[in-house]
Formats: sequence, C-alpha cells, structure tokens
Amino acid sequence: MSGALTATATARRAPAIALAHVARAYPGGVRALDDVSLTVEHGTFLAVMGPSGSGKSTLMHCAAGLDSPTAGSVRIDGREISGLNETRRTELRRERVGFVFQAYNLIPSLSVEDNITLPLRLAGRRPDREWLR
Ligand SMILES: Nc1ncnc2c1ncn2[C@@H]1O[C@H](COP(=O)(O)OP(=O)(O)O)[C@@H](O)[C@H]1O
Ligand SMILES: [Mg+2]
Repeated sequence: MSGALTATATARRAPAIALAHVARAYPGGVRALDDVSLTVEHGTFLAVMGPSGSGKSTLMHCAAGLDSPTAGSVRIDGREISGLNETRRTELRRERVGFVFQAYNLIPSLSVEDNITLPLRLAGRRPDREWLR
C-alpha cells in the first residue's frame, strides 16, 4: 500500500457545511446574521428554530450558496464558496445541494418527474431511472 493510499484512508471528511463568523446585513441596516459559526457533519439532521424574522431563511440561503454573506466564511464539503463567482456557485449547488423552499418554487408547467430531473438535464446528465422511480 502506498503512502498516498494510507493518507486517503485516514483523512477526515470535511463537514457537509461549515459557517465561520458569518454576517449578513441587508440594505437599510438590518443585521440578519451577526457572527454565526456552525458546523454540520455529513449524515446528521439539524433543525434551525426561532421566531419569525430571526434570520432562519437568511442562514439557510447563505449556507446553501444561494446568497452571499457580508462577512465570514461558508464551506460546502470543505469548499469555500464565498470566493466563487455566480457560475461556479450555481454548479456547486447543482452538484451538492438539495433545497426545499418554503414556497416550493416548483415549475408548474413541468411534471413531478421533470421537476426532479431538471437539474440533471441542465447538467447534461441522465437520471438513474431506478433512483427516480
Ligand atoms: N431581502 C431583504 N431585504 C431586507 N431585509 C431583509 C431581507 N430578507 C430578510 N430581511 C430581514 O432580515 C431579518 C431576518 O429575516 P429572515 O432571514 O427572513 O428570518 P426568518 O426566516 O427567521 O423569518 C428580518 O428582519 C427581515 O425583515
Ligand atoms: Mg423564513
């Protein structure tokens, strides 16, 4: 066994999501997030709870790469996303992130199947029929 293989086998997997000192201020002066640090390991579930207006949606949008924090670092699978341009962030979301919106944001003219497979079609990939079923 090579040294490289050993290193791979013992390497610790990066957290699914890691936020460090994230702030998000909106025009008008609202600081929806103020120095938020949070790590979510793979295979875990996390519920973010709080009153309306406390910043839950802003947190989710920043953690998923849908919105950019005003300050701080967001890593998805170990990859820093704050430095990525819109195209790279779109590609990362398409590959790594599933997001169920509060208002769903499904496309009404498409079937359920076509809504599910749309990201794959945009990526030029074929769905696994068994998985899709
Ligand atoms: N696009 C925006 N522009 C200005 N203020 C916003 C915007 N989105 C959210 N806010 C403000 O940021 C705060 C947090 O909002 P939000 O993240 O939607 O909270 P929650 O999801 O917990 O209800 C609120 O004060 C809200 O009014
Ligand atoms: Mg919300």
